[in-house]
Amino acid sequence: HPSNPQMEGYFGLRRANCRAKGGAPGFKVAILGAAGGIGQPLALLMKMNPLVSVLHLYDVVNAPGVTADVSHMDTGAVVRGFLGQPQLENALTGMDLVIIPAGVPRKPGMTRDDLFNINAGIVRTLCEGIAKCCPNAIVNLISNPVNSTVPIAAEVFKKAGTFDPKKLLGVTTLDVVRANTFVAEVLGVDPREVNVPVVGGHAGVTILPLLSQVNPSSSFTPDEVKYLTDRIQNGGTEVVEAKAGTGSATLSMAYAAAKFADACLRGLKGDAGIIECSFVTSAVTELPFFATKVRLGRIGAEEIFPLGPLNEFERIGLEKAKKELAESIQKGINFIRK
Ligand code: NAD
Ligand code: LMR
Repeated sequence: HPSNPQMEGYFGLRRANCRAKGGAPGFKVAILGAAGGIGQPLALLMKMNPLVSVLHLYDVVNAPGVTADVSHMDTGAVVRGFLGQPQLENALTGMDLVIIPAGVPRKPGMTRDDLFNINAGIVRTLCEGIAKCCPNAIVNLISNPVNSTVPIAAEVFKKAGTFDPKKLLGVTTLDVVRANTFVAEVLGVDPREVNVPVVGGHAGVTILPLLSQVNPSSSFTPDEVKYLTDRIQNGGTEVVEAKAGTGSATLSMAYAAAKFADACLRGLKGDAGIIECSFVTSAVTELPFFATKVRLGRIGAEEIFPLGPLNEFERIGLEKAKKELAESIQKGINFIRK
């Protein structure tokens, strides 16, 4: 019966096979944590992405309901649901891109690092599954603290012998999305016409907007620089406080994750000139991981761009960012090594 998600999977499989024969481009994408505050709207947005042919929705709760719901959308992607750890391997097998928003969110008064104890273990388990079932997939890691979960993922992949630094991407797109929005407000222009590089990491002072490199070239007063930097660095906390204990950014995050995933898929497809900021394995600073602009291509982050010229304010910010980042990165590495 069509209302039975199992049967939808069956019909979906036939459709997926037909499409593959037709040679239409399409990638297989899994969302881990798909029933969550980010996962649900992200599932909706990925179901709308014409580059996605198969969409796997995995969670430890409520995956069947979200799957049945999203699968009724009359867009191309075939949707399949997977519930609980025993189904993780089936959820991951054959995937080209795995997006991970699994884990607990902040409440007011917490830092992202306060989530480490719970989310580190979740990310480890999911990445062990990726290493086993789809070691060549691109991984978009959203779960906080990103500054530590990306190093955790790297260590898990290294241990399994599958680590490809080009394919592990920490998602910092929401920082760029916020920066574009807030800068556009100050400049009085459409945010779609503004691009603000945001480098460093994804927590407090490690979020470093490069206002001297805004495109199109713009100038700001010292007060505007301070206001914008503070607001961009604390954008997550602004939402956590407004949500008053019910969670953190989910809708703007799903938008940002879908934007970044789409960029990864266009890169995989072979489109040229796909450039986004991401927290990746990097030699741009002395730290093993750092967020800068990267060029996304057929094998992931194919080129990591340097920081470019920084002004005095940004150089001071960079030193603060590196200090905190170094500790968060080491904490992630130690979680797997020790
Ligand atoms: P949420 O609690 O609404 O959803 C999390 C989902 O993860 C839940 O459905 C839960 O069942 C699932 N989950 C828990 N353990 C799991 C496991 N072992 N395997 C699979 N799924 C599991 O939280 P949310 O608001 O969606 O946020 C999720 C994470 O994303 C948080 O850690 C949050 O801090 C982070 N986040 C990151 C950014 C970013 O910019 N990178 C932005 C916003 C939120
Ligand atoms: C964000 O930036 O919105 C996320 O990292 C969630 C949070 O805890 O702030």
